[in-house]
Amino acid sequence: MAIMDDLDMIAQQYLQFADHEARGSSPSYEAWSRTLAGDHALLSQLATLPAPKQQPNLVFAALRWHGARPGDDASLRHGLLDSWSEVSRTIMQRSTQTNEPARCAVLLPLLHQIDGPIALIELGAAAGLCLIPDRYSYAYSDGTTVHPPGGPSDVLIPCRVAAGSLPRDLAAPQIAWRAGIDLNPLDPAGPDTAAWLEPLICPEHEHRRRRLAGALRLAATAGVRIERGDLRSRLTALVAEAPAQATPVVLHSATFAYLTAGDRAAAAAAITSSGARWVSFEGHGIVTLTRDLPEPVAPGTLFVAALDQVPFALANGHGDTMTLLGARPLGCSQARSLLAKQGQATERARGHAGLEARLTGLCHGELGGIA
Ligand SMILES: C[S@@+](CC[C@H](N)C(=O)[O-])C[C@H]1O[C@@H](n2cnc3c(N)ncnc32)[C@H](O)[C@@H]1O
Repeated sequence: MAIMDDLDMIAQQYLQFADHEARGSSPSYEAWSRTLAGDHALLSQLATLPAPKQQPNLVFAALRWHGARPGDDASLRHGLLDSWSEVSRTIMQRSTQTNEPARCAVLLPLLHQIDGPIALIELGAAAGLCLIPDRYSYAYSDGTTVHPPGGPSDVLIPCRVAAGSLPRDLAAPQIAWRAGIDLNPLDPAGPDTAAWLEPLICPEHEHRRRRLAGALRLAATAGVRIERGDLRSRLTALVAEAPAQATPVVLHSATFAYLTAGDRAAAAAAITSSGARWVSFEGHGIVTLTRDLPEPVAPGTLFVAALDQVPFALANGHGDTMTLLGARPLGCSQARSLLAKQGQATERARGHAGLEARLTGLCHGELGGIA
């Protein structure tokens, strides 16, 4: 019976992915997810993987890596049944390291509140694309535009402001020093980096692929330092390296979901005691907040941007739509309509109790989401 429970759990994971992440955003991934969820042979194949490796985005990226055509059922079956040894090797060797520069559009107004110059330390930096928020141009839907000090960037990040007001004087942060940590740092100039990050973007998101290419070029030029290591052991030492004349800021986005609840609490304590300012952009429920979010916020539906644990904005996981919370909380109807608008395009932090237990304490963020 245990094996049936496993298959049911995987099917449920793929149906949730189809319903809440792929629908309205990626028809090809929605089709693949639904086929997979209803196919005993395909589910049995995935059940041979460790639970954290069963995540749809990783499995689909590996299939594409090996030439599968997104949305095509025959191609899905061929990849998971006939080419399983190659596909499963890729799944085991790689992970979802989706690096989304558009998250910087949400981070910018938080960084704006911190006295500069800033020493920016990113936990889970991947290729460092969120470590260079000062190298992009931004066009917010309320008409606010922000450019790097030297003039417009080759990478323009649009962001829809669903509610709330941006600061009138929003500007690129002054970053005097920056460094990242990652279990597996990615070289932005390396051909393998782009080759793997591309299939992590769902097939229909061509604009994100174009942006990725531009952001990788900027990061390669910036020469950002990303140290190989575990944030749990390296965080304090890296903060201590920040130059004394800069304000140390610890940043993490779509990363704490990969930690167990206990490790998240330990990392939070380490950030707090380091004296650094703390900018987080994670799925709802991943970071403990010191102020309530407007109700209702469906668990796992939204990403929350916070400064020192005070929620500042709700956004979808890729940062292309945000609601600034401001001083006045949203009313119920506003929050409901926001959730309806954002629901389809959201990269969710998936905290379903059964799955979480099964993933030995890991919460989902990128672990399940369209990255
Ligand atoms: C989904 S990516 C997010 C990248 C980037 N922060 C962004 O928002 O675009 C998560 C990254 O966290 C890294 N990571 C996960 N657990 C980690 C840990 N314990 N220590 C360091 N890095 C970790 C992964 O290797 C991956 O590159």
